[in-house]
Amino acid sequence: MTHDLRLGVNIDHVATVRNARGGAVPDPVRAAVLAEQAGVDGITAHLREDRRHIRDDDISALMQELTVPLNFEMAATAEMQAIALRHKPHAVCIVPEKREERTTEGGLDVARDENNLAHYIAPIRAAGCRVSIFIAADQRQIEAAHRIGAQVIELHTGAYCDAHAEGRFDDRDAELASLKDMARFAHDLGLEVHAGHGLTFDCVTPIAAMPQIKELNIGHFLIGEAIFRGLEGSIAEMRRIMDEARG
Ligand code: PXP
Repeated sequence: MTHDLRLGVNIDHVATVRNARGGAVPDPVRAAVLAEQAGVDGITAHLREDRRHIRDDDISALMQELTVPLNFEMAATAEMQAIALRHKPHAVCIVPEKREERTTEGGLDVARDENNLAHYIAPIRAAGCRVSIFIAADQRQIEAAHRIGAQVIELHTGAYCDAHAEGRFDDRDAELASLKDMARFAHDLGLEVHAGHGLTFDCVTPIAAMPQIKELNIGHFLIGEAIFRGLEGSIAEMRRIMDEARG
């Protein structure tokens, strides 16, 4: 079944738990297959430069075992470009990456590095991958992403989710207003619009309700919630809330 609003599940943090003990369990590929059986529309995995969660062999196994599209998240480095060109996943999402950060803290500054990024993504596009750029809800960045030839932007929802969780409701509403404006702006430019980072059952509704948004990528919360309700239960509840928001 295809959904008007797709749900992509990020399985990085199954690998975080695995790597905490250095062994083979829990296996993120098994989680991805289970998520697929639970009806998700795609799987997202971020191969970080330091391999702190997903490892190279996970990407190979995901490419072999999945029937839903893989959204391969990576920093714009030569090493990652070679890996993407070897595997040719359905989508490549370019994210900023700093070694010292705990998670992807902000969007990519496409505007600052436009020429290099245009050259960087060209072979990835030519290999048949959809190129997505993870950016803040900022008109300058969206215009730059469009100019370099990205087909998709993923709007960073982290600031909105943090403001919601911390009860800073004026900030939350301001973040939501710019996400709404920028989703519309990007869609009107012809870009496909995705969103993600920090989304939970509590804060997903207004994001899922934006008609221009075609895909949400959600990881940390869903994997954590799976401890309590199982992965299928966690995914089913997110799907239900997304459908309700959309309906
Ligand atoms: N989308 C992108 C581009 C990301 O980098 C991440 C985090 O790796 C997510 C979505 C998922 O964020 P979270 O794990 O907070 O749901």
